[in-house]
Amino acid sequence: MANLDVTLRYSGINFPGHLHTMQSMRFAEEFKFCDTDTVIVTYPKSGTTWMQEILTIIDSDGSQVPAKTIPNWIRTPWIEHYYCKDVLQNKLDNRIITTHLPYHILSKSLKNSNAKVIYVARNPMDIIVSFYHFHKMANFLPEPGTFGEFLEKFILGEVHFGSWFEHIKEWLSHREEFNFLFITYEELKKDLRHSVEKLCSFLERPLLPEVIDTIVRHCSFASMKDNQMINYTLIPNEIMDHQRGKFMRKGIVGDWKEHFTEEQKQLFEKIFQEKMSDSNIWFIWTL
Ligand code: A3P
Repeated sequence: MANLDVTLRYSGINFPGHLHTMQSMRFAEEFKFCDTDTVIVTYPKSGTTWMQEILTIIDSDGSQVPAKTIPNWIRTPWIEHYYCKDVLQNKLDNRIITTHLPYHILSKSLKNSNAKVIYVARNPMDIIVSFYHFHKMANFLPEPGTFGEFLEKFILGEVHFGSWFEHIKEWLSHREEFNFLFITYEELKKDLRHSVEKLCSFLERPLLPEVIDTIVRHCSFASMKDNQMINYTLIPNEIMDHQRGKFMRKGIVGDWKEHFTEEQKQLFEKIFQEKMSDSNIWFIWTL
């Protein structure tokens, strides 16, 4: 299935038709989650792949075999992607499921279970930079134009996957409805070991210190960027143009400083204040 130029408009949001169909969205909306499921919820470019890798290796008690032999979209599939139904066919419990869907699309099905929900957030200025570069290489996303043009579309919520502001505010304002953990990309970056311990405790999966050491080593940027099962080099050039960028690009906090002009920074800060004033979410912008 290529559909590289197709956009699916669903519930007021554009999604790449390469991965999403009306049927796959309905599948997600009606999915029967189990109490044993763990669901990673993210806006794109927030650290989704990182969390998929951490949870995979926690789940395998530190064995790197699944992480090194099974692509992330098979072991931790996106519930809204067209192939998910087949992937999950024979897996009925203890699943790690990923989603970029907003609360208002997924909540009805998710609320019917006591699945563990892990929301990974990242400071939005770094998301914009990462998303901008990803648009250049992903042939299933529109051409981003200049950084300034992309920034404007992001602020207006006109990019694929919808408004970041709505995504995070909606999910966090309903967190009490779920068995929910909030964690940030910056926390992972600042202290991966502590973050893994926090995740193990939430998942009720106590692990030996030496297993945690292995997880921390395996999930470093340097190690993950060479793992073909998550760096997307298995995806053909027609779909992801590997000459135009790398999925595992920089993996740092504060790369926005290399991209935003002073004027763009001030504009974004003003919009951020306006849109986020009714929430108590705060971010680490640099490390
Ligand atoms: P950059 O483009 O800023 O490098 P997602 O998986 O949600 O699409 O997010 C991708 C971003 O997470 C990319 O950011 C990628 O490099 C970063 N990332 C993935 N694994 C990482 C790791 N182990 N350490 C730090 N950053 C990581």
